Amino acid sequence: MADPTSQSNYLLIATRHLSLEWTLDFLTRTVRGTVVYELEVKGNEVAEVILDTADLVIDSIHVDGDSVAFTLGVKHTVMGSALHIPFPCPATKGASVKLTIEYETTTDCTALQWLDKEQTQGGKFPFLFSQCQPIYARSLVPIQDTPSVKFTYNARVTAVLPILMSAILISPPSTGPPHDGRKIGQDQVTYVFQQPVPIPSYLLAIASGNLRYRPLPVPKGKDWTSGVWAEEELVDAAEWEFKEDTTKFLEAEEKITMPYRFGVYDLLVLPPSFPYGGMENACVTFVTPTLLTGDRTLVDVVVHEITHSWFGNGVTHADACHFWLNEGWTTYIERLLQEILQTPAHRGFSFLIGSKMLYDDLKLYESRPSYQRLQIAFEYGENPDDAYSSVPYEKGANFLLHIERTLGGLDVFLPYVKNYVQTFMGKSITTQQWKDHLYAYYREHGTRDNVEALDSLNWDAWLHGEGLTLPIPVDYDVTLAHQSNLLADRWDKARTATNLHELFKASDLQELNANQIVVFLERLQSYPALPKVHISFLGSTYSFATTPNAEIRLRFYQVALLDPQSDAARQYAVDAAAWVVGEETPKGSGEEGRKGVIKGRMKFCRPIFRALYTVDAELALRTYRRHKLAFHPIARNLIEKVRIGGAFMIRR
Ligand code: BES
Ligand code: ZN
Repeated sequence: MADPTSQSNYLLIATRHLSLEWTLDFLTRTVRGTVVYELEVKGNEVAEVILDTADLVIDSIHVDGDSVAFTLGVKHTVMGSALHIPFPCPATKGASVKLTIEYETTTDCTALQWLDKEQTQGGKFPFLFSQCQPIYARSLVPIQDTPSVKFTYNARVTAVLPILMSAILISPPSTGPPHDGRKIGQDQVTYVFQQPVPIPSYLLAIASGNLRYRPLPVPKGKDWTSGVWAEEELVDAAEWEFKEDTTKFLEAEEKITMPYRFGVYDLLVLPPSFPYGGMENACVTFVTPTLLTGDRTLVDVVVHEITHSWFGNGVTHADACHFWLNEGWTTYIERLLQEILQTPAHRGFSFLIGSKMLYDDLKLYESRPSYQRLQIAFEYGENPDDAYSSVPYEKGANFLLHIERTLGGLDVFLPYVKNYVQTFMGKSITTQQWKDHLYAYYREHGTRDNVEALDSLNWDAWLHGEGLTLPIPVDYDVTLAHQSNLLADRWDKARTATNLHELFKASDLQELNANQIVVFLERLQSYPALPKVHISFLGSTYSFATTPNAEIRLRFYQVALLDPQSDAARQYAVDAAAWVVGEETPKGSGEEGRKGVIKGRMKFCRPIFRALYTVDAELALRTYRRHKLAFHPIARNLIEKVRIGGAFMIRR
């Protein structure tokens, strides 16, 4: 089966290498340049190569030096326009073809967000960043946009601001003077990159802004480096937030899998409109600035992205139907590391937090049960972003945890994990290939009991089951949720009390870390809505109404907006709306006098708009329309699809 999200003929001819020569123009908001492709012919008598494109302007194409007449197909709303490039004569199996394309991007290209200087931390220079996963690389460069194809690349990119790509920066060196000692924002500098490890198209990435670098400490004997990039104004905070954990987790990860292959593991803190928590671009993970809480409580996102270096960037899903192999495995391993580097209770706690998201999302997809499945049977041209939810993460991680336990625990399972990574490193695989190897491993290295354990699994229910629950209940160590639950229960019992300031004190939270506070607030959501006085007391006594920690603030608003008909909901809807678009001045957060920032991460803006829409649809629409352009095109698409009772928030 071919990738249902690509129109390219990648099974007949495959990209092996790209050479990119780009200029970034912040005034016209375009990338202009030339790409040279090395293609390997895999079929017999191949007459053309078909590449995916979306909203690109193609200027000229040469095949092995000869100019050719190409055709650009009619644009498919999801897949874009197929670029047909005929060969002067059919190419034979095994031959290599050199293709050269001159082109430029347009302002419609979904992969790129160009930000005004006002939308950055420093406010002095504009910013550009890409987001290619799942199917937007085609709007950055004509490409076989499927994770089944992997290629190496090198790039020379010129701009007036420092540049990063998903590759090793060759020159100017990261540790040298910023922008090669030239004037930032004025002088053009050419940055040279090399990606010697084959990567899928969704890991292509570029960012450019007033960036600075701080190296992180690397354990002895490693052949990789690690560092943090951020806008000048944030780079010290970023270094502090990540310096403790990043290389420690990389090292731990190597122990359970195999050595890190990409040479460089950097983190780049993006402006607030970045729609994800993190994105595992090769050599440089992109992260949301909401991770910079000053207490290192959100580094699990970094651990997750580090884990993708093996699960996803190394062993890659063949296409969107098998996306869970990337995210389910990564989530499972990320939590395993927590058990190894912290305690088993930490692992259980993360599964507990995840299960709330899972059940919420399964419920949201009640009218779209095919998206409740772990392995999704996408139709040709269906948008994988419409299915983006915690299901592949959580159902996937729970399935692997269940398999681990069914086989008899980590002693039996960990050697298999290593073998899985080593077997498929550098390849793109389907769920069937994963399952076949799992069986083959235990047939060869395990006991008959192991194989029987595998036979006892309800494969069909796990892989293809729909519905609101996991196929069977999975237990977690919930010790770390205990205090949170007790406190939530106290609030529930006090719902008719009038002496709140005798019952509750700021010190109630003393023993809880940020994630435990999240669990407390989620537990509160499982009770009937609290009265308005209780909610305002909760917001002020615990500072939830002003906290700069977006994870906590989101849950607080969800508690406040729980009953859409209530006074509390109507009142806090106004606050939540202001918060999500960055219109508030965050009191008591140390940021007085500074305008708030947009909460562009979809984990925050989607549920807020969803809740706003149920409480006050007018307010939701007004707020969104006024700030629409500040949101990333991917986030815009999904916010506009926020669906209540079948009605889209914005009719198209
Ligand atoms: N690869 C994903 C982000 C992604 C998935 C982008 C699909 C586009 C399409 C990344 O690794 C991720 O899962 N990010 C999470 C972080 C997390 C689960 C800790 C996020 O952004 O919330
Ligand atoms: Zn992920």
